[in-house]
Amino acid sequence: MDPSNVLKEAELLVQRELGKDSSGHDSWHIYRVVRTAKLIAEQEGADSFVCQLAAWLHDLADDKLVENEQTAMNGLKEWLKEQGVGEETAEHVLDIIANLSFKGGNRPPMRTLEGKVVQDADRLDALGAVGIARTFAYSGAKGRSMHEPGRKPRIGMSEEEYRSGNDTAILHFYEKLLLLKERMNTSYARDLAEKRHRFMERFLEQFYAEWEGER
Ligand code: ADP
Ligand code: NI
Repeated sequence: MDPSNVLKEAELLVQRELGKDSSGHDSWHIYRVVRTAKLIAEQEGADSFVCQLAAWLHDLADDKLVENEQTAMNGLKEWLKEQGVGEETAEHVLDIIANLSFKGGNRPPMRTLEGKVVQDADRLDALGAVGIARTFAYSGAKGRSMHEPGRKPRIGMSEEEYRSGNDTAILHFYEKLLLLKERMNTSYARDLAEKRHRFMERFLEQFYAEWEGER
């Protein structure tokens, strides 16, 4: 097995499967998560190949994108085998993918450093300028409004509430985005998250000011 070849094949697989998705999990989301995962892995001394491979594949079995998560996981397992990825590494990658999603936040912690790194990279893509852009794109795709003054954020949601809520883009900042910096696993990701968090706070401040006709 040639690791760089496997990563190349993973990229091609993602482009085939996710190229046109518009729910915020398009292949450029994956691209950014891979880049960030690689960076964090270097800083934290994690296995870069495992992190990058799990990052490439991380959304291919997500319940938002596939009908049956289990079938999709089996497909990924088969794919890893075809690529010649050793059993232990394959199990590790599959374990990371299965435990990744935010889904309201009620998930057990990641078991390995590599899992923590990929989870941090995925969460970081929900923050900062890109995170803001994804939030408004997602809300628009769902036909929701940007902002409805007076509506209160829902705290401590179940997975179902998190998915089904008819919320606004601005409410999503309080229900998820502004909570994420406390949930970073690694110290390097925490630094990046703080920076992106401050940017979002500044964005909100300016947004409310403009909303009321201030400059
Ligand atoms: P994940 O698979 O990481 O749990 P989500 O599907 O929750 O991702 O989110 C994908 C992107 O869409 C993220 O940037 C997220 O912040 C945004 N998003 C998710 N739910 C909402 C929502 N209710 N309103 C606005 N943006 C959302
Ligand atoms: Ni993702």
